[in-house]
Amino acid sequence: MIRVLFVCLGNICRSPMAEGVFQHMVDEAGLGDDILADSAGTGSWHVDEPAHSGTRQVLEQNGIAYNGRSRKFARQDFDNFDYILAMDRSNERDMRALLRGDEKDAEIRMFMSFAPETGVEDVPDPYYRGRFDFVYELVDKAAAGLLAYIREQHDL
Ligand code: 4NP
Repeated sequence: MIRVLFVCLGNICRSPMAEGVFQHMVDEAGLGDDILADSAGTGSWHVDEPAHSGTRQVLEQNGIAYNGRSRKFARQDFDNFDYILAMDRSNERDMRALLRGDEKDAEIRMFMSFAPETGVEDVPDPYYRGRFDFVYELVDKAAAGLLAYIREQHDL
């Protein structure tokens, strides 16, 4: 099983959206037995909460079921996942600060690097300004790019 983790700050807006969209694409491609998605946040304010209503709404509008709850990113995630995708550069920095050097080498990447055509490096945080539809468009493109990359890497 190839394990993929999406990481943002609160794990209620961006990374749950990415997890839901990506897992949906995986399932549609018939790869549900090969690839598993999860998400986590570097902050703990929202632990155990469901995703933000804006995220749940945009997922539902696009026919994607999601009922995960927020959890905090933990150091063991470096060992438990093969691909770890940061939603923005502060998420990447905060995660990398936890590395001690003896972890299994998960591939840690900026999520938007899989949609270079967008010219966007950081998925904007919709928590304060509520641009959930715009975030969805970005997430959808990067998720497709990531899935294509993983399929190529693993001959799927
Ligand atoms: P997320 O959005 O990182 O995309 O889940 C946020 C959610 C909550 C907070 C910040 C960002 N917060 O400060 O509580």
